[in-house]
Amino acid sequence: MKTEALLERLHVIDSEYRRLEHAAALLQWDQETYLPRDAVEERAEQLGLLEGIAHERIVSPEVGKLLSELGSTSENPRGDESLPALERDFLRILRRNYDRQIKLPPDFVRSSARAEGLSQAAWIAARSNDDFTAFVPHLAEMVSISRKKAEYWGAGGAVYDALLDIYEPGITAREIEGLFEPLKLRLKTLLNRIGSVPQIHAPFLSEAYDCGAQHTFSMYLLDYLGFDQNRGRLDTSAHPFTTTLGADDVRITTRFIENNVVSSIFSTIHEMGHAFYEMGFPAELRGTSLGEGVSMGIHESQSRLWENVIGRSASFWQGLYPEFRQRFSGRLKAVSMEDFVRGINRVEPSLIRIEADEVTYSLHIILRFELEQQLFSGALSPEDLPKTWNARMRDLLGTEPQTNADGVLQDVHWSMGAFGYFPSYALGNLYGLQFWRKLNADIPHAEAAIAQGEFAGIREWLRDTLYVWGSRLEPAELLFKVCGEKLSVDPFAEYLERKYSDIYGF
Ligand code: CO
Repeated sequence: MKTEALLERLHVIDSEYRRLEHAAALLQWDQETYLPRDAVEERAEQLGLLEGIAHERIVSPEVGKLLSELGSTSENPRGDESLPALERDFLRILRRNYDRQIKLPPDFVRSSARAEGLSQAAWIAARSNDDFTAFVPHLAEMVSISRKKAEYWGAGGAVYDALLDIYEPGITAREIEGLFEPLKLRLKTLLNRIGSVPQIHAPFLSEAYDCGAQHTFSMYLLDYLGFDQNRGRLDTSAHPFTTTLGADDVRITTRFIENNVVSSIFSTIHEMGHAFYEMGFPAELRGTSLGEGVSMGIHESQSRLWENVIGRSASFWQGLYPEFRQRFSGRLKAVSMEDFVRGINRVEPSLIRIEADEVTYSLHIILRFELEQQLFSGALSPEDLPKTWNARMRDLLGTEPQTNADGVLQDVHWSMGAFGYFPSYALGNLYGLQFWRKLNADIPHAEAAIAQGEFAGIREWLRDTLYVWGSRLEPAELLFKVCGEKLSVDPFAEYLERKYSDIYGF
């Protein structure tokens, strides 16, 4: 076959794979939003079947053969140098996925999927009974499966790096440590400073706000920020998420809590940030494996940028607060915009990661990163986790959980064997502020536009500068392309230091 014909065949297979994946995502989305309770088991079978078919398509021997014929090997994933750059990036992504899957024996894939299912069920029970001991064997099994996986991939001694690479291609534990160490110091210093001045009180935030009115306000936010409802929609689920069902169909969810009116607002904005990314890939990447977010960290940089940097800023509420206050006039009549903004930016060390504020959040992540490294270096065994967890919580956040349910058992990730995932949340904070700095250099009036409820300029900058690359570049390459610099702690730390000295008045 000629090169063109080989490429065309590979693109056909890739687009069929993407369609199957999107169909599976629709079943999954439906399961999280509208599925009747009794249909859960049947749905799991439908999903398993469809995902199996999608998987077979993309790791078929034919794909392996096409990749080799186009010159793409594990050592030279981008293939023949004579090919156009876009096609070479396409080959790199397909080779990466192919190698990763093909190196795992089918028996191992089946048995680890079963073990993951059991482990998740055991984690749910262990958390609700606050019984860490019951979860230990499953946790140990998840560690050993991850180790084995890295071994099949040929990671040698660098097991944890191989796991990180699933979520953040190209980064190493050493690099992350080089960032997290100084970040830890700056966050702890800032936290101490905040602790030395009077705390913010905002009781109006935990009063009861009608959930129906919250829903209407979230719908209003979609239009306010420019979410294209002809290409996506908002629904509710127990845990907010974003999922892509096609280039023109990106679904987000949120949840409404009566006594926490801002929870739904910031979930909606967070997921919208993910959705803008997914909706913003250029025409030539549509429907291909390059039309995807490049990493968890870059994805999280987008959601956090919209949620925190934009959504929790005074400029943002300058534009939005009059409308918000009017809708909830019974509760907010006496609350000024300034007090509201201070309230939503209150900093307080707490036990639960997903409820943490902007300053303490990354400390929760650093703790998990440290423990994961110790688990994989062998310095820490699963049964000793609670003791180390609690001690590190005291050192990093000055507080300690009374139960393991509020401590080491709080997150689902380890029960699924998703080690190496956590760092991407904090890396997202770092990437986000580097992009934000560059955006502000290119668009000097971004803050003023935000205050006027004008977001088109920001959305377009992100689309034309960042989303335009899809997953053509690795995260570090993308960052360098956009900002001309390496990943760094300073923009994020300086942003927090400036913002919170304003908020807390020091
Ligand atoms: Co997110």
